[in-house]
Amino acid sequence: MIIKDQNDVTKAVLSEVERTKDPRTREILSALVRHLHAFAREVRLTEKELRDGCAFVVELGKHTNESHNEVVLLCGSLGFSSLICLLNNGNNGQTETTANMLGPFWRLDSPRTENGGSIVRSPTPGPALFVTATVKDNQGRPVAGAEADVWHSSTEGFYENQDPGQADMNLRGKFITDAQGRFSFRSIKPAGYPIPIDGPVGQLIRAQGRGNMRAAHVHFLIRKPGYKTHISQVFVNDDPYLETDVQFGVTQALVGNYVRHENEPAPAPDVQGPWYSLEQTFIMEPGDDALPRAPITGKAAGERPVLAVIERQ
Ligand SMILES: [Fe+2]
Repeated sequence: MIIKDQNDVTKAVLSEVERTKDPRTREILSALVRHLHAFAREVRLTEKELRDGCAFVVELGKHTNESHNEVVLLCGSLGFSSLICLLNNGNNGQTETTANMLGPFWRLDSPRTENGGSIVRSPTPGPALFVTATVKDNQGRPVAGAEADVWHSSTEGFYENQDPGQADMNLRGKFITDAQGRFSFRSIKPAGYPIPIDGPVGQLIRAQGRGNMRAAHVHFLIRKPGYKTHISQVFVNDDPYLETDVQFGVTQALVGNYVRHENEPAPAPDVQGPWYSLEQTFIMEPGDDALPRAPITGKAAGERPVLAVIERQ
């Protein structure tokens, strides 16, 4: 249509969207156009602001490579990943859930590890952590034979894919739940880490006067046919960033009970000094066991990057 004024633009686009054959795609595109146009009207977006916004999106792509995903990082930093997770889990947002967002650091094909085994694959500082997890269905019955993928950052704040100093797949492993729905492993107690701020997400964080720290956590991805793939993060209860996690990931259900043990014998004889244990239950819902698309596919080479921390103002 030939457009008369600003109101006509929205009508013109929506009428073209109606041509979309797939009903769900049409629903999404229609709502997207309506909200996007309404957003521009609400803030009276200027031409320069549109150009700056386009440049921002271009930078998201330029800062994405096989070992880093700036787009996923932005979704988390806007609370969008957390929102989508909570809308789609816990009976579609009606009840508490142990689901959480995937984040940008999950890799496919982490090494299969025996129950009780260690995921520390190269020397990594930090107190020992012994995790026992139980997977149940929403009737409280154990889920046996589920595959549980685990990953977390080092106490120095790096996932192995960011850090050429760590062995490939360090602090990553995959387990199978036993007849009681349990799996267990040894690792180190994770520390919180700063998200990368050398790209557009860093600009956003600075502009808002926020910090870039994530509260310490261990990631889980649990799957079994017949169940919805259960993605989770369990946060460290003594972490100073629980209230200000830059990815808005900390939910009440997922502040884990990491117990500190002093002068108690550890489950492994080589442990010296204080160590930690964590017991955690995950509740799976019926659904699709599809794997998500892996946000990254490889490991960084060259020098270990310098971690930059922005303090919250
Ligand atoms: Fe993480």
